[in-house]
Amino acid sequence: MTDKHAHANPVRGRFNSWLLAKYEDDFHEEMGERKQQHIGALNGTVVEIGAGNGVNFRYYPPGVQLIVYEPNPWMHERLHQAARKHSLNCELRPVSAEQLDLPGESVDAVVCTLVLCTVEDPGQILREVRRVLKPGGKFFFLEHVAAPRGSGLRRVQDLLMRPWRWLFEGCHTNRETAALLEAAGFERVEMERFSSQKMPPVIVPVISGVAYR
Ligand SMILES: C[S@@+](CC[C@H](N)C(=O)[O-])C[C@H]1O[C@@H](n2cnc3c(N)ncnc32)[C@H](O)[C@@H]1O
Repeated sequence: MTDKHAHANPVRGRFNSWLLAKYEDDFHEEMGERKQQHIGALNGTVVEIGAGNGVNFRYYPPGVQLIVYEPNPWMHERLHQAARKHSLNCELRPVSAEQLDLPGESVDAVVCTLVLCTVEDPGQILREVRRVLKPGGKFFFLEHVAAPRGSGLRRVQDLLMRPWRWLFEGCHTNRETAALLEAAGFERVEMERFSSQKMPPVIVPVISGVAYR
């Protein structure tokens, strides 16, 4: 499989891994309770897409069979450290998640935080999530999203989108992820919106919730 991340930029790759590590405590403070509530209740086989440094590993209960897709090699050292620290049974697949090499209806849950902003084709990722989830399986998401169209913040997001995407390796300030999730064909989507106090000001609108297959 060819993967654009196989030639990921070493400077921005290292920078982004370092930056995520720096923000880890802040994210835990603000989003830890939500993550604990949802990730902490999972069991069986769980897939995490774009696991980064393994920031969510602290929330998984023991016994979960975790498969993580993380194509950026500059994240892998911290990811392995986190897996060891939390004694996780975790298999890393170092490739993009647009094609999951898993059978249909084979996993109990999928987890994805701050990733749908970054992937090249979020619609394709969501199709894959639905394909691999067992009926009734859960997709837990937490994502920064576009501000409402016509708002001042949205104009700033639109303006900064390109340099931001370059620096943060694909991240879109203005992705309409809520609409993509609603249109993805899940049985039910439970979603809440909030403003982050910890994210940089241009990406404060956040959605979080569970989509059910
Ligand atoms: C902003 S980071 C978020 C990392 C982590 N989930 C967190 O909450 O801190 C986005 C992650 O998505 C990964 N990523 C980008 N494109 C991807 C793709 N097509 N498939 C899977 N992961 C991808 C990046 O390598 C990066 O680790």
